[in-house]
Amino acid sequence: MSDDDVQLEARLAEQEEFEPPAEFVEQANVSDAGIYDEFEENWPECWESAAEMLDWDEEYDQVLDDSNPPFYEWFTDGTLNASANCLDRHLEERGDEVAIEWIGEPTDEENRTFTYEELHREVNEFAASLREMGVGEGDIVTMYMPMVPELPIAMLACARIGAPHSVVFAGFSAEALATRMNSADSEYLVTCDGYYRRGDPLDHLDKANEGLSMVDHEVSDVVVVDRLGPNGDGFGHDLADNQSDYGELVEEQSGETVDPVGRDAEDMLFLMYTSGTTGQPKGVKHTTAGYLAWAAWTSHSVLDVKPDDTYFCAADIGWITGHSYIVYGPLALGTTSVMYEGTPDYPERDRLWEIIEEYEVNQLYTAPTAIRAFMKWGGEYPDRHDLSSLRLLGTVGEPINPRAWKWYYKHIGDESCPVVDTWWQTETGGMMVTTLPGVKNMKPGSAGPPLPGIDARIVDTNGEEVEAGRAGYLTVNKPWPGMLRTLYNNDERFIEEYWKEYSDVDSDDPDDWVYFPEDGAKIDDDGYITVLGRVDDVINVSGHRLGTMEIESAIVGVEGVAEAAVVGGDHDVKGEAVYAYVILEDGYEGDDEMHDRIVAGVEDAIGPIARPEGVVFTPELPKTRSGKIMRRLLEDIANEDELGDTSTLRNPDVVEDIRVKVQEE
Ligand code: WTA
Repeated sequence: MSDDDVQLEARLAEQEEFEPPAEFVEQANVSDAGIYDEFEENWPECWESAAEMLDWDEEYDQVLDDSNPPFYEWFTDGTLNASANCLDRHLEERGDEVAIEWIGEPTDEENRTFTYEELHREVNEFAASLREMGVGEGDIVTMYMPMVPELPIAMLACARIGAPHSVVFAGFSAEALATRMNSADSEYLVTCDGYYRRGDPLDHLDKANEGLSMVDHEVSDVVVVDRLGPNGDGFGHDLADNQSDYGELVEEQSGETVDPVGRDAEDMLFLMYTSGTTGQPKGVKHTTAGYLAWAAWTSHSVLDVKPDDTYFCAADIGWITGHSYIVYGPLALGTTSVMYEGTPDYPERDRLWEIIEEYEVNQLYTAPTAIRAFMKWGGEYPDRHDLSSLRLLGTVGEPINPRAWKWYYKHIGDESCPVVDTWWQTETGGMMVTTLPGVKNMKPGSAGPPLPGIDARIVDTNGEEVEAGRAGYLTVNKPWPGMLRTLYNNDERFIEEYWKEYSDVDSDDPDDWVYFPEDGAKIDDDGYITVLGRVDDVINVSGHRLGTMEIESAIVGVEGVAEAAVVGGDHDVKGEAVYAYVILEDGYEGDDEMHDRIVAGVEDAIGPIARPEGVVFTPELPKTRSGKIMRRLLEDIANEDELGDTSTLRNPDVVEDIRVKVQEE
């Protein structure tokens, strides 16, 4: 490092607040600080500004119907179609502009560029194929696909005919696919033969087929996208009788158009499964108008997306971030959305920077786990490239530590791009707490104030607001358009999981209903919120939510395992990593083979992302007198922290035994 660099690092390390760059503010979509007061005074009508970003077939009557909390309805009786909003309405002015710029992982492969016109054509053809297959309005179509262009195409085709989609992350296991198809009673699957990861083709259809064999009802049709082509189909799959090749289907419908179905504002646009406290994943239901308006409004206001931008969200569409901020938000605004298939370190650790340089990307939206990896790899990789096209940087998925924030700000943004640290969840549909980049100063490590119109507070266990600086629980005290409407087929669990904690569940008064996202947080004197992390039994590994119960039940399913407790331990790149404490049945050894079987059991049940970083065999688990496992203590052991109070334990000695064991490993 030169002397200048050293000085710069020292200055950055101390700086706690950053003003948005003047050039950014001048051109920002939102730069009037009055928006906060205006939205507060004019709530809920303020959300008309989000609804106005959409094209409606029929105007809505009421912005918010809150007569039956927490079953809120937004933009009631309006009708619209999400695919028409993401495609058709752009054709006249922007038909030749690029909608999706798809970049495959292999560097010798040609990119696939879809203009709005081309994307519209292909979505229509696939919508016609789905219709032909018998998919009707309201039928749930599951998608188990990696990052191929046919995934957003299939999503928009479903939206066009009013069939909700349920996308299952391609990295999830066969069993996870089956659980989700069973829960949604989904009779249709769109999947893919395989994809590339770090240079190698991966067989995906094999896993999909295995999942299909576990589905408890008849699956009438499966569509298989040929990603690997003639060179990559060495996996030798023959399609089964109910399976068809995507390319052939679309070919048959060549030139067909399908009128977008007018959907009620409150009709389901999609389901997205996410992990919760209990073993069963939750089917989060999002609607057509509220969700789309939210994705569009936040993309405009926070990511500062403009139609002429080239915008890159380096997430996977299999998660909510990709739904809202690769597909629906950017396409609703008519911009160019970059979609990259592979990992950031293939063929080298500068792949993202190369993409940004080549396509002159204006906004980059990624996760802290990725930023921590970039930081570890070092500044030389971004330094090889001209990143001056960047105007804004964003992060999402987990807390970002100030060091990583500053690294991102300096090495990627060259101190000239605002960084938005956006707190939100699968359930919220889009961003909730973050700075408006053209209005507010940034404070590394703190997401920022709630967005205008969002009433988020930090409270104690009684729901009373806590003083600035003290840790409490994050709550959202008023509804917002992008919120989940319920958990699929399970209104009871919806109330139980998100509302019961802080609401008067017998009341009809919306003021008595408070949404609880299950995150801990604190607030400072300026109203900036720092999110501390989950307060339920969910671990956040590389920005991915994993339920400890799901992992525990996978481990207990392994032959020879009597009991298991799973906790998250600190990890410098992943944020958190999975640690498993396992009690074996008599006659079984805690040897390497057992370890491998446990790891394989978790991978089979959930997927490689849930793979335990450490497995500790122990004769006992620390339990309270009432028999509850003391996870906190196990976390402390995993983190090598000072142990908390062990006096309430039934078996205090066991903690020391486990700790010694962990240290020996
Ligand atoms: C965490 C991802 C701190 C949080 C969009 C939340 C964050 C969970 C942030 C949702 C952030 C997300 N700062 N924590 N900026 N963003 N989280 O459903 O614990 O996959 O509840 O949605 O991620 O994860 P999900």
